[in-house]
Amino acid sequence: MNGIDSLDVAGKVVLLRSDLNVPLDGTTITDDGRIRASLPTINKLRERGARVLITAHLGRPKGDTYADRVAGGPSLAPVAARLSELLGVPVPLASDVAGDSARAIAAGLADGDVAMLENIRFEPAETSKDDGARAELSGRLAALADLYVGDGFGALHRRHASVYDVPELLPHAAGDLVQAEVAVLGQLEHPSRPYVVVLGGAKPSDKLAVIANLLDKADRILIGGGMSYTFLKAQGYEVGKSLLEADRLEEVGKIMADAAAHGVELVLPVDLVGAVDYAPDAEHQVYPVTAFPADRESLDMGPATRELFAAKLADAATVFWNGPVGVFEFPAFAAGTKAVAEAISELRGLTVVGGGDSAAAVRRLGVPEDRFSHISTGGGASLEYLEGATLPGLAALERS
Ligand code: 3PG
Ligand code: MG
Repeated sequence: MNGIDSLDVAGKVVLLRSDLNVPLDGTTITDDGRIRASLPTINKLRERGARVLITAHLGRPKGDTYADRVAGGPSLAPVAARLSELLGVPVPLASDVAGDSARAIAAGLADGDVAMLENIRFEPAETSKDDGARAELSGRLAALADLYVGDGFGALHRRHASVYDVPELLPHAAGDLVQAEVAVLGQLEHPSRPYVVVLGGAKPSDKLAVIANLLDKADRILIGGGMSYTFLKAQGYEVGKSLLEADRLEEVGKIMADAAAHGVELVLPVDLVGAVDYAPDAEHQVYPVTAFPADRESLDMGPATRELFAAKLADAATVFWNGPVGVFEFPAFAAGTKAVAEAISELRGLTVVGGGDSAAAVRRLGVPEDRFSHISTGGGASLEYLEGATLPGLAALERS
């Protein structure tokens, strides 16, 4: 895969696909990690005299037409404003994706300038399964620029026009973030042992494929958070009103049997924090998994599980962690996720945190980011990489 060094960017308009999909509270950015992670490539291009035109998505705009989506938002305006602050230069935002405003902005760029196109997902064709629809959009995007750099690691698992089709049309390279992410995830193919994986997040269905692929590689898989309740239920425990994927119980049972057959230790919570409902101030109590009440819902793992997970991590030489193990957004239910983050941050081996939510959790809970070897900007993308899947955006960048 070629890097930026393979392109002569001076004086050229470079269409840069970044992943600037940050969490928002209204129009306030609650975690700007993805914007900061995109800065090295942007700065490198600027230093080399490129005219940087950024395309990125934000959220999942709804509506069948471009007009509906623009009306519903979200606009990239808060992201352009934050990027401008971080770079210390103006970052104008086109009022459209690949129309008159985009063309005017592109034509007005001087060497070293940075500008952005509006939310690429305002164009329904961006995410279309119809090759022709995507081709029309990617043609318009490519016409804005001379070169393409793919640096949106977190979106590489999407077969979208700006990720997958545009690099077909322009001389292209992978940005520094994509190269760094791929280098680290590649190291997990041949891990130093013990290799311990911690998986959390809402649903087992998102993680079954990665667990299956990890059975040949990991020594221990610790399962917490929303997905763990389906595992506990499959073992016959009461999980009350906790998150459950009832239609996955059979598959989950099978994966537990496969893990045992592979000699992979699968570790589940032994106690849970049961709340009366899903609310930041919900009345709550710790219960062993053997005695969880039918009318409660678990929002975090309990103290015995925090200790158990820390003990199972203590000797790890390699760790991959994806997904919070409790509702860390509510301070009363953040102890489990904080304990996992702290236990991993104590380790000296290769420690990789994957995923927007876990990365945001690390920062929100105040665990220093530099205590981890790598905090990935891609949740879905890093999981699909570890599943052994071909990421469409990576394949596109690898094509010459
Ligand atoms: C992400 O947030 O996971 C990436 O930016 C991709 O976004 P998506 O899941 O909406 O495709
Ligand atoms: Mg996602």
